[in-house]
Amino acid sequence: MITLRGLPAKGPIGDEALEIIDEGGIVVRDGVITHVGPFGDLKNEGKLHEFDQPCVMLPGFVDAHTHLCFAGSRANDYSRRISGSSYEEILASGGGIYDTVEKTRQCPEKELLDLTLRRLDRHVQEGVTTCEVKSGYGLSVESELKMLRVIRQADQAHPVSLIPTCLAAHVPAKEFSHPAQYLKHLSSSLLPKIIDESLANRVDIFVESSAFTPALASDYLEQARLMGFDIAIHADQFTCGGSALAVKFNARSADHLEASGDTEIQVLAKSETTATVLPGASIGLGLDFAPARKLLDCGCCVAIASDWNPGSAPMGDLLLQASLISAYEKLSNVETFAGITLRAARALGLYDRGQLAAGMKADFVTFPVTDFREILYQQGKLKPNRIWIGGKQVT
Ligand code: NIG
Ligand code: FE
Repeated sequence: MITLRGLPAKGPIGDEALEIIDEGGIVVRDGVITHVGPFGDLKNEGKLHEFDQPCVMLPGFVDAHTHLCFAGSRANDYSRRISGSSYEEILASGGGIYDTVEKTRQCPEKELLDLTLRRLDRHVQEGVTTCEVKSGYGLSVESELKMLRVIRQADQAHPVSLIPTCLAAHVPAKEFSHPAQYLKHLSSSLLPKIIDESLANRVDIFVESSAFTPALASDYLEQARLMGFDIAIHADQFTCGGSALAVKFNARSADHLEASGDTEIQVLAKSETTATVLPGASIGLGLDFAPARKLLDCGCCVAIASDWNPGSAPMGDLLLQASLISAYEKLSNVETFAGITLRAARALGLYDRGQLAAGMKADFVTFPVTDFREILYQQGKLKPNRIWIGGKQVT
């Protein structure tokens, strides 16, 4: 049993910090863990079920950044990219995100729900028990609300616990002649409706020269903050600016960070903003990984998320991506696991999951191996064989 309890929220961690309980046991009441310890010590805690097959247990994985509610495929973009076009060129020519917006707007609610549920079915099999899901392919009040309602329905219908985020500020809607007008429209006409229907308490924005400048984003985030939203930012993906803004707004997380340099890293390290790296986007775009090693060494809280989306990160396999960034960026087992459990939970403002400890939500997974190091070693090929969410076994 790899508990991941007692670990620091920020900075580097060596594998010697891991608590490993041999022949561990776990007691759950009403979906919450009440005891974790050697199996033999828990005999008085009620009826215990013994697993005869040896396995390694970990907390369930938290995917803190996804766009897995979408319609259509962008295989065409991918083909253009592997033939040499860049992500930004494709976006600037009216494709990319706009292509998915077109298809998601046209997709009936029921169908969008089915697509979302099927992706969650796959995600849970790969060990994900909590998943953040963004809107952002609607870009109109009506279509953004449709996406957020679908995400809510998916949360109710699926065992994976979903955390919705409004990313209406993904790229400027083409119906508006200036991005500032679009953002004003969002804060006056969309955000109040999201509050009325309790559809999300988080707002995200893509800060990038091809989307929204830091100055425009600042005005929008000020409005969102006044309305009580938590903030996350798509930051420093191709050009810098977003991470400093994230720190200024005390955002929960600054996500991407592929372009972050020493200055950006120092600013993040001094803040409470989690640095969420997205290896799936680097793999999907064929670009360098975010400087996860440097971020950790300078003292950041580093989470690792899949960014599952139809454009930059179509694969959507969190464990595989985490194991690859750990190989390239030299992250220890514990830094990598913390990045997809407790540190990812922190990026979402959740302190009730991501560790095997009393008081935590009873979300855990087992892998059919006896040495926990096999998990990253097998680079995503080894899948969990059992998964529990809120104390209920789902697989
Ligand atoms: O995190 N960079 C902006 N947004 C997404 C990609 C969305 C898309 O291409 O559909 C990302 O990479
Ligand atoms: Fe993203």
